[in-house]
Amino acid sequence: MTEVRMRVNGVVESLDIEPWVSLLDALRDHLGLTGPKKGCDQGACGACTVLADGVRINACLALAMQYADKEITTIEGIAKDGEGRHPLQEAFVRHDGLQCGYCTSGQICSAIAMLDEHAAGMPSVLTPSVQPASAVLSDDEIRERMSGNLCRCGAYNGILDAIRDVAG
Ligand code: FES
Repeated sequence: MTEVRMRVNGVVESLDIEPWVSLLDALRDHLGLTGPKKGCDQGACGACTVLADGVRINACLALAMQYADKEITTIEGIAKDGEGRHPLQEAFVRHDGLQCGYCTSGQICSAIAMLDEHAAGMPSVLTPSVQPASAVLSDDEIRERMSGNLCRCGAYNGILDAIRDVAG
């Protein structure tokens, strides 16, 4: 067993885990945070997306011990104190950005990071030129930047509408 300390949703957690335990299993099985979902467990679906120091990662591909002393944010921790729900959560409800909901926590965590990436001028694969922070995200760019998050129900139009609503 290895002791791993990490900050999860603003709370410092200390875990005694085997070194091969994934971050996803640590969050779900050791901390009871079941918002991040296990879909493919091989980095292909995005259902397990969480934020590590604000960067989106597939928690199924990460070893928990790699994230010692990092700030991990899951869907359970994205709303600010007193906010109730994060604006993207509200928008997903408003625009029917889900059907079964299995992918939703990953979609929303990914969208939060994606909007931050865009605001910081980070390029996407589709449009590799650096986007100025003021540039409006096109639908194609949102789709491309969210392409790591699959929705087997096909709620992509609602997801796009929700993100566009919040992106402004
Ligand atoms: Fe991690 Fe599918 S469960 S990407």
